[in-house]
Amino acid sequence: MCTGFVGPCPLLPVRRGIIAGPCLGAKVEAFDAEGKPVVGQVGELVLTVPMPSMPIGFWGDETGERYAASYFAQYPGVWRHGDWIMNLPDGGCIIYGRSDATLNRGGVRMGTSEFYRIVEELPEVTDSLVIDTGVLGREGRLVLYLVLAPGATLDDALRAKISSQLRSELSPRHVPDEMHHSGRSFGEEGGRLTYGTYLHLPDLLDQQVPLADPPAHDELLFITVHQVYELWFKQLLYELVAARDAMDADETWLARHLMQRAQVIERLLVSQVDVIETMTPQDFLQFRSTLAPASGLQSVQFRELEFLSGAKDHRFVGRFRGLTESERERLSRRLAEPTLWDSFLGVLGRRGLDVTSDDRISESLLAIARDRAAHDDLWQLAESLLNHDEVSALWRARHVQMVERQIGTKSGTGGSTGAPYLHRRVPLRYYPLLWELRDKL
Ligand code: HEM
Repeated sequence: MCTGFVGPCPLLPVRRGIIAGPCLGAKVEAFDAEGKPVVGQVGELVLTVPMPSMPIGFWGDETGERYAASYFAQYPGVWRHGDWIMNLPDGGCIIYGRSDATLNRGGVRMGTSEFYRIVEELPEVTDSLVIDTGVLGREGRLVLYLVLAPGATLDDALRAKISSQLRSELSPRHVPDEMHHSGRSFGEEGGRLTYGTYLHLPDLLDQQVPLADPPAHDELLFITVHQVYELWFKQLLYELVAARDAMDADETWLARHLMQRAQVIERLLVSQVDVIETMTPQDFLQFRSTLAPASGLQSVQFRELEFLSGAKDHRFVGRFRGLTESERERLSRRLAEPTLWDSFLGVLGRRGLDVTSDDRISESLLAIARDRAAHDDLWQLAESLLNHDEVSALWRARHVQMVERQIGTKSGTGGSTGAPYLHRRVPLRYYPLLWELRDKL
């Protein structure tokens, strides 16, 4: 039905739960019980004029009787498809499911919607489903399933109330043989989930696979710590990208809020080094050769964080060992896209501050620093960038300290000189102009 009668439209905005409108050549209308077109109200989906492309008969239905009975019985000359639709005043529409869900009990035809209309009007009920277990003419049981409102219980009083409503509004034959409630009440839609399935714990907790043979006790700690880092790197990328986008949208308050969160995570990453430092160099040596040539140097997310922060260096991409295609693509994308600094300068520029050269940027930063009353949000944003820069440097310094404690001046498993290489990276600054500003104040 979707794409045949109604469908999307590239010229109109996409709205959650709403289909853009009827397809070209499909005169789709919603008919009420009297066969009158209605808008803003659920009705039978009908086509009131022939479509350019529609079935004109059924195979083997020589007289056309079955074809006519299937589509034209209810409204002569009008195609009734058997679905509920609501046409909206602005041309959009919503489909509500089959309208011909008809039960037949003892020769009495019952529309399921008749039940729902009565039952779901009760304040104790939020949703319902009725089924007839009869098959091929054999009498079955009429079963009503209910989702109850908060605080409601399916006790004798509520059962009696539902039965009496159905009896008086419809007929005694409409009274269900059984009533059940789903055990799920409002606010517990996720009731089918457990803690473990929601968090994918079976998968997550299956990923720590020590390799050393004979087993080395500390290898599990080493793997877990690195995996936890990578999870936080993922979260950090998520927060920093959002902070950058907030700056692009001139939402400085949001950018600061997200930068603040990023900084708290980064401080956690610095203190997490303590955990791996509980390992002795002797214990590390039991499995160090097993993991070579793997190294933190190959952490794609770590490099993405550096690129996004402002320290873009394409040489790292060339030096990576065993990059997958998607990792290479991610790194190239980070090299191509704006950094946090670019977006910060964008905000300054749109506020009328000159950002056309480093000297001009420094002057603009000085103006912001000297008139905080006028530029408070920009000053705070600059400070949050500086925090990010500072705590990233703290991590590098803490990491190299720990590396020296573990392996002294031995070269790294990733092939670098080890501590000497890492020492050279400690002074890296993402935002040198923010540091130089201090000299000028
Ligand atoms: C026993 C613990 C550790 C040792 C001995 C160690 C050693 C090293 C060494 C020697 C390097 C230089 C590259 C090389 O040649 O391998 C390096 C780089 C790196 N390590 Fe570690 N590391 C340890 C723990 C960690 C942890 C827990 C992380 C967290 C993710 C980590 C992340 C990194 C990163 C991101 C780099 C690249 C740094 C850069 O290029 O600036 N390392 N590590």
